[in-house]
Amino acid sequence: MKKAVYPGSFDPITNGHLDIIERASKLFDELTVAVLVNPDKKGMFDIDERVELIKKVIAQYDNVNVVSFNGLLIDFMNKNDIDVIVKGLRAVSDFEYELQMALMNNKLDATKETVFMMTSAKYSFLSSSAVKQVAKFGGCIEGLVPDELVELISKRVK
Ligand code: PNS
Repeated sequence: MKKAVYPGSFDPITNGHLDIIERASKLFDELTVAVLVNPDKKGMFDIDERVELIKKVIAQYDNVNVVSFNGLLIDFMNKNDIDVIVKGLRAVSDFEYELQMALMNNKLDATKETVFMMTSAKYSFLSSSAVKQVAKFGGCIEGLVPDELVELISKRVK
């Protein structure tokens, strides 16, 4: 069985993330969305909230689950017998940061591979921080996050 992990901050999940989840779920037998702490980012939603939001939108995918983990991604993968990391790439600007992480993870454990998926063009401008900024100042986030989360996220951010 081919298992993969899709790790990230997901603060909060966007349609760009969901697009990667949907496409990756077709490539692997089991896909685990792992909400991890990025020490370089100050979070807005707490980890449990992020997991709850993701749970609401992945129910339709039989082979996708979501968990949180506090620690190294590699440790999470070894505990769960996962060898492949899926990451989304939006633009060249993502590449340097993602390459560094992929190489670091591979240095920590050479049995782990990172597979990059190109974000769909319609979501190439989208990020969790932009969603938070738009929502914070009362802008419309429809089309940026899953429909069932629009109201929840808008209220919470304000
Ligand atoms: O969505 P993000 O913020 O780009 O995701 C980054 C994340 C959370 C995947 C990364 O910070 C991470 O893997 N954190 C766990 C700690 C870890 O394993 N760090 C080593 C990789 S440099």
